[in-house]
Amino acid sequence: MTAIVRLENVAAEVGGRRLLSDVDLRVDAGEFVALLGPNGAGKSTLIRMLLGLHPVAAGRITVLDRLPAQARQDVGYLPQRRRFDPDLRVRASDLVRLGLDGNHWGFPLPFKRNRTAAERVSEVIELVAATAFADRPIGELSGGEQQRILIAQALVRRPQLLLLDEPLDSLDLPTQSSIAALLSDICTNQEVSIVMVAHDVNPIMSYLDRIAYLASGKAVVGTPAEVITGPTLSALYGTPIEVLHAADGSLVVVGQPEPPAVHSDRHHSDGHHHEYDRDPRRPHSH
Ligand SMILES: Nc1ncnc2c1ncn2[C@@H]1O[C@H](COP(=O)(O)OP(=O)(O)OP(=O)(O)O)[C@@H](O)[C@H]1O
Ligand SMILES: [Mg+2]
Repeated sequence: MTAIVRLENVAAEVGGRRLLSDVDLRVDAGEFVALLGPNGAGKSTLIRMLLGLHPVAAGRITVLDRLPAQARQDVGYLPQRRRFDPDLRVRASDLVRLGLDGNHWGFPLPFKRNRTAAERVSEVIELVAATAFADRPIGELSGGEQQRILIAQALVRRPQLLLLDEPLDSLDLPTQSSIAALLSDICTNQEVSIVMVAHDVNPIMSYLDRIAYLASGKAVVGTPAEVITGPTLSALYGTPIEVLHAADGSLVVVGQPEPPAVHSDRHHSDGHHHEYDRDPRRPHSH
């Protein structure tokens, strides 16, 4: 089977500094893979390498058997979160339409078949369950609603690969769960592979095929059960780390030197988010 994404012995450098070495990762059709790791580990850099926006320092990356930059027209991308200005009057559905026009990549419209662009836009809006608010200005929508619109924008050109940089960031737990379920559904039913950066593995854990956990300049790749374990994370960080299994099935990582990207959010039976669940170093707090 053709790999959708293949990284072989990949190294990443930023500003002349070696950030990651020896990263091996393969993503097959329809797979849902998470990139985890502490702030600054290189998750966004790796996503940008998959887009051909950041050079590969060593090793080889192919996306759909092509160089990353040559595969971009078949890749949907949701950059790391920025907020929309509450006063932004652009209609949500027009934002989705922008993804179709491909202006940001400079590619021509791929539409030939006998369906119009407008039909595709409303189809994809329905797919992400955003029909009810698609005619409203994007700035007025809630964080979760905006995220659905942005996922629709990334999907509108029928990519084979979706790269999502922290799409669950700043969302409350119920919304994280419903977006996670939506993404899993897209993987399964739309034949799209997803590589997604996440800060907390718990909302997505049950859907994931694989995790690439980046820390200390390396990556560990495996199933969630293989990667999120005390021994694996201790070896990666070079310091004792324990993984506790909560009664509801969620994982809590405990240890030094810094809290890795797994939190105890799911502990709260009331389902509400509490500020103290968050890594205080996190750049985008609530
Ligand atoms: N253009 C650049 N020049 C120099 N350093 C950079 C550049 N871009 C990123 N870095 C550094 O590279 C490291 C990795 O950044 P990156 O954004 O990939 O981390 P991340 O894992 O996505 O973190 P976060 O969880 O905070 O989003 C950071 O230390 C960052 O400061
Ligand atoms: Mg990042």
